Amino acid sequence: MATETNIFQELISHCKEYGYIFQSSELYDGLSAVYDYGQLGAQLKKNLRDEWWKSMTQMHENIVGIDAAIFMHPTVWKASGHVDNFSDPMIDNKDSNKRYRVDHLIEGYAETLDKEAGDAVLAAMDKLIAADDLPGLKALIEEHKIKCGVSKTCNWTDVRQFNLMFSTQIGSVAEEADTIYLRPETAQGIFVNFLNVQKTGRMKIPFGIAQTGKAFRNEIVARQFIFRMREFEQMEMQFFVRPGSQMEWYNYWKDERKKWHQSIGIPADKLRFHDHVKLAHYADAALDIEFEFPFGWKELEGIHSRTDFDLTQHAKFSKKKIQYFDNDLNEEGKPYGNYTPYVVETSVGLDRLFLTVMSLAYTDEKWTKEDGTEDGRIVLKIPAKIAPTKLAILPLLKKDGLPEIAKELMNDCKSNFMCFYEEKDAIGKRYRRMDAIGTPFCVTIDHQTKEDNTVTIRYRDDMRQERIPLADVKKLVMEKLSS
Ligand code: GAP
Repeated sequence: MATETNIFQELISHCKEYGYIFQSSELYDGLSAVYDYGQLGAQLKKNLRDEWWKSMTQMHENIVGIDAAIFMHPTVWKASGHVDNFSDPMIDNKDSNKRYRVDHLIEGYAETLDKEAGDAVLAAMDKLIAADDLPGLKALIEEHKIKCGVSKTCNWTDVRQFNLMFSTQIGSVAEEADTIYLRPETAQGIFVNFLNVQKTGRMKIPFGIAQTGKAFRNEIVARQFIFRMREFEQMEMQFFVRPGSQMEWYNYWKDERKKWHQSIGIPADKLRFHDHVKLAHYADAALDIEFEFPFGWKELEGIHSRTDFDLTQHAKFSKKKIQYFDNDLNEEGKPYGNYTPYVVETSVGLDRLFLTVMSLAYTDEKWTKEDGTEDGRIVLKIPAKIAPTKLAILPLLKKDGLPEIAKELMNDCKSNFMCFYEEKDAIGKRYRRMDAIGTPFCVTIDHQTKEDNTVTIRYRDDMRQERIPLADVKKLVMEKLSS
């Protein structure tokens, strides 16, 4: 019987087999927790990014997008608190020399217990993490005799904090070199550009700045495929608001983001909110939007009310004034005046969103045919508007003028949406391949096309086929994509 774990392993293999995702540097045996997106993966990722970008910058008049550099002045990360605080408690096994993130080690152990016992261990761990009690965490590991997966021993070091930022050198010669960091979040590129954008864009509060881009974290235990990577992509939006109005906007963005996930085909019952119990020192409210991945409910997106912490810190470290002059009138009829805006942040991982879409799309279908034999297919039911290829154009034969008609259709459609042309193999085999890569529509050009200018259109999800005029194909696909 197929278990969730098996299905997840099948999905990983499928992603590789059909050009969605490859292990990075596979030729050299791979680089752990780093992945490359193949020809279809890159297109699906772009479609998701475009949907997000459009929903933020095109559908909200008061949100603009930027593209800040990955490298930033090192003081940015001092000011943001990442140099001092962006760390996770780690523990090493002395026999295998393998390092573990303490929460992952304990979570892994809790999964081996029955629900009640597992929950009790997790509750104890949460309490110790909230209190920054590193010796307490070690005691918990020892009390439960949690073993290293490699050495199978309990010979542990003390628990230590380990900074997750990657550092490198900037400058052409060593003497000039200075240590800089690969950004662990894109948000700081927005904060340091707050005044630039507000002034040049003549933005009035409330307004947002959106950005998508790579972020890097030296995750020690990188697991679950593209769920936790060392190099990943974030889509973040900082919404700058009047102090005191942050909870109103926090609730607005909480609902708005959940609705957006539903708009790209994620069912409401696969999404839930998880309020943070322990708030970061800069936050006055925070929650995760969780998705039910094949390995359980996990964070897909974070919504954080970050107060005025980041702008205040950058003002302090740069010794520059970062404020907004608000000449709207308050309840007393006086201008609000100068203040440091508060920030509500929405932050979703593009790779996690990709995994969400793929987990929902991957379907192993089996049925009994009329003659009693078994049949089946693997199909990726990716919603048409985000599917990498929209239409496959398939001449039934490689002769009799059918490829010419097919290529004419391809030329007519390809500037409107992504098409794929194929003339090799039996038509059934070609349909199966299109199912496996998630192409929502296939059009077959056959001899009847030459007689009456009609084609067969086949719908991926229910395999329905119908005869339509060749001249209607483009219009029909475009209607389906916008519906
Ligand atoms: N600026 C806020 C921030 O970075 P976060 O909760 O650390 O908050 C936001 O990250 C989102 O980025 C997460 O909800 C997740 O989707 C994604 N993310 C974080 N670490 C990741 C990793 N190692 N691999 C893949 N995605 C990650």
